[in-house]
Amino acid sequence: MKQAEDGRQGNLYQALLEYSGQGVYPFHMPGHKRRTEDPFLRDFPNPFSIDITEIHGFDNLHHAEGILRESMDRMAAVYGADRSYYLVNGSSSGVLSAVSAVSDNSGTILMARNCHKSAYHGVFLNRMRTAYTYPQIHGEFGVQCGLVPSEIEKLLNQNVDISAVFVVSPTYDGIVSDIKKIANLCHERKIPLVADEAHGAHFPFGSQFPASALEAGADVVIQSLHKTLPSLTQTAVLHVKEGLVDVDRLEHYLQIYQSSSPSYVFMAAMERCVSYMNGEGRRRMDSFYQRILALRRELEGMRCLRLLDASAKGTYGIYDLDLSKIVISTRKARITGEELDRRLREEAGLEMEMCTADSVTAITSLMDTEEGLNRLKEALLEADRRLEKRVPAERPAEPLPPIPAARPVMTIYEAWNRPKKPVPLEQSAGHISGEYVYLYPPGIPILAPGEEILPQAAETMIRYKESGLALQGLKDYRAETIQVLR
Ligand SMILES: Cc1ncc(COP(=O)(O)O)c(C=O)c1O
Repeated sequence: MKQAEDGRQGNLYQALLEYSGQGVYPFHMPGHKRRTEDPFLRDFPNPFSIDITEIHGFDNLHHAEGILRESMDRMAAVYGADRSYYLVNGSSSGVLSAVSAVSDNSGTILMARNCHKSAYHGVFLNRMRTAYTYPQIHGEFGVQCGLVPSEIEKLLNQNVDISAVFVVSPTYDGIVSDIKKIANLCHERKIPLVADEAHGAHFPFGSQFPASALEAGADVVIQSLHKTLPSLTQTAVLHVKEGLVDVDRLEHYLQIYQSSSPSYVFMAAMERCVSYMNGEGRRRMDSFYQRILALRRELEGMRCLRLLDASAKGTYGIYDLDLSKIVISTRKARITGEELDRRLREEAGLEMEMCTADSVTAITSLMDTEEGLNRLKEALLEADRRLEKRVPAERPAEPLPPIPAARPVMTIYEAWNRPKKPVPLEQSAGHISGEYVYLYPPGIPILAPGEEILPQAAETMIRYKESGLALQGLKDYRAETIQVLR
């Protein structure tokens, strides 16, 4: 998910081969961690040997009634879903299909503001109106936390035309919201809850991990197998509990948003991954969990850097926490998240998944080795020791302002199609945004097209920019001007 900052050049294939021999340890997705010596990955055939198309006897993903139907039905049984679908275009294709299926082309969707961009794209394509619920922000860590059911209830009571609710749980940082309560609120009103569980595909296979959204009552759940499980990048699944979602409509959109040549290599990798996780993988999840607990115990001793731990449960809307995400706050240390991320890469050969101004996030999975986790532990403890000795030459940075609540005045679709003009950020207050402005990472929009630019939003963009954070989505890459409606 990171930006290319080291500017590798030349032949991609060569660059990948060289990189794989450099001994950099991945604390990022994909969840298989390139462990080609592990029997589970080692025994996967050469992809070319099983790469076919829809030949006789091998069914058709877009009209599955044979071997693929059976395979997906077995998967549904593992997950306790009424129906499950392979997604060969990542969770993005599942999110687009789910949003389209629950849109009635006139109503409003209630979305968590920290939704992935694919949810915004779904809203755009379906010309939907939006209402937003905001994740709580952790006061010390600065990370996005849980969604508050009572706020969702308030919004549902205020907007009678809400036709579905869309939430992200867990977040990138492993924060799980109270899906059961949110599902009940939806079901009392006979509307579906869609849960983007892209980062929680491992939940159903480890009893020590949070309950999955499907178990907690969501109607549609999307999971990226590739993010936290040993499967190939781009592989994801969508599960449905029938009742409130029109399954024919959903299947129609799955066809629209997915390739007409779905990879049999991907589908075989998904089938094999789910079947493995339902057997040997479950046992491995137990020992993985114990290794994560041991790592966490060591990291709890850090004095400058801080680990987001289970004590956060019950605060900032955090209903539960996925302990496999190692989230380190730099807010109380004399270092930024970006600097710690750079040091881990350059000095310890560890590549993290994500960093913000105040934190660094490592993704771990059952494929992580003891050696890899030890390297992470040693590098963080060493960084912490060095920070302790740092002369307090400068004060830790003031926390940045949170992203202000949006005020949509028209749909994203309508705004996108209107004539626009650039104005300097400093003069943007009072205009209507004609484009997205994301804070990246973590990719949460400060503005979406069709939203009034409130003075706080203009100020926040300027403060973020001055602090060196990446404002993205703007046509003007230097982030000096923003496109507004004429
Ligand atoms: C919360 C969330 N949902 C959906 C996606 C899209 O997933 P994929 O990359 O599998 O398309 C991402 C990607 O990072 C994500 O973070």
